[in-house]
Amino acid sequence: MSSQDQAGTAPVSAHDLAARFTEAFGGAADGVWQAPGRVNLIGEHTDYNEGFVLPFAIDRTARVAVAVRPDRTVRLLSTYGDQGIVTTSLDSLHPGTAKGWTKYPLGVMWALRQRGIDVPGLDLLLDSTVPLGAGLSSSHAIECAVISALNDLTGAGLGAEEMVLATQRAENDFVGAPTGIMDQSASLRGAKGHAVFLDCRDQKAALVPFETEPAGLVLLVIDTKVSHSHADGGYASRRASCELGAEVLGVKALRDVQVGDLEEAAGLLDEVTFRRVRHVVTENDRVLQTVELLDGAGPAAIGPLLDASHVSMRDDFEISCPELDLAVDTSRANGALGARMTGGGFGGAAIALTPVDAEQQVRTAVAKAFSDAGFKAPDIFTVSPAAGAMRIA
Ligand code: GLA
Repeated sequence: MSSQDQAGTAPVSAHDLAARFTEAFGGAADGVWQAPGRVNLIGEHTDYNEGFVLPFAIDRTARVAVAVRPDRTVRLLSTYGDQGIVTTSLDSLHPGTAKGWTKYPLGVMWALRQRGIDVPGLDLLLDSTVPLGAGLSSSHAIECAVISALNDLTGAGLGAEEMVLATQRAENDFVGAPTGIMDQSASLRGAKGHAVFLDCRDQKAALVPFETEPAGLVLLVIDTKVSHSHADGGYASRRASCELGAEVLGVKALRDVQVGDLEEAAGLLDEVTFRRVRHVVTENDRVLQTVELLDGAGPAAIGPLLDASHVSMRDDFEISCPELDLAVDTSRANGALGARMTGGGFGGAAIALTPVDAEQQVRTAVAKAFSDAGFKAPDIFTVSPAAGAMRIA
């Protein structure tokens, strides 16, 4: 996203968003829908390998006020104040043509039309409190709010699985980011106090209790302000390595390789591909272990798995960056029980599972470490598992 696409930090209420809609477009909205961003607790770059992920929806959302129009015109406006009203037509929805945040709603409309759903012309006003480019899936928050609205307004009756696939199509084929299904699954399926344990092979999902407060913990997000885009080459090249690894090992997807198979795999793969494969295989295993611990010992026990996940992404998958490593190392050295980068990598945010008592120390130490290193000041805030997409007015 461009730097001018800036989200606000305080949510605009459904009532105020509807009022602003009327002011901007001159008629009433048919309704207001919201969908959250996500933090991935663990399970990175496993989704497109048909593996396991454990993300949760966060208490930061994109909200859209929408009204159906009688013609084929589409008018889009955001509270970011960047582009004014963008006017287009259903007939000019073509991959690669949309700019800035408008590619997300337009991508969803395009993907639904590809499925044969009769998407109408519409007016749409967007507000979002999901920080942009922070690796918290601000784009999927928009897409999931929009698809929820269109699902209701068209009476299409799509279930979560179908909405997940349609938003993935929007991302892959309209936006041009070859991403998997984790982010939209968290945004659509999230629930307060829970993480979403998802098997990306068949979209089988289960809610796993994840509450930090009763355990005396907070989950800190450290937004490094290093921006990334999954439409750039890094994400796609990692995905290509995984596909190559699966092909050489003769499996449908890396999901089918177990930790015990790695020794043999080392002899069959080139050194770099082997490390990419080892990350995915061990990460899948860490997701399963994390779920087991959350079901039993509770969140305080998962720290070492978060740490191991980060090391694997830093050294084997090579998708971290100096800012993410500094955020993770400094958090750990100042009392966090575990920390890792979250999301696709190459920038974005780290998470640090931290005892409430150590929260201030971690915040201060990370801010100082960034300043000492000459990095941009990070944004540090807490998140907790929140509800998934819904209509709010
Ligand atoms: C991005 C993608 C997801 C997933 C993660 C890495 O967030 O959108 O599909 O691949 O990166 O785990």
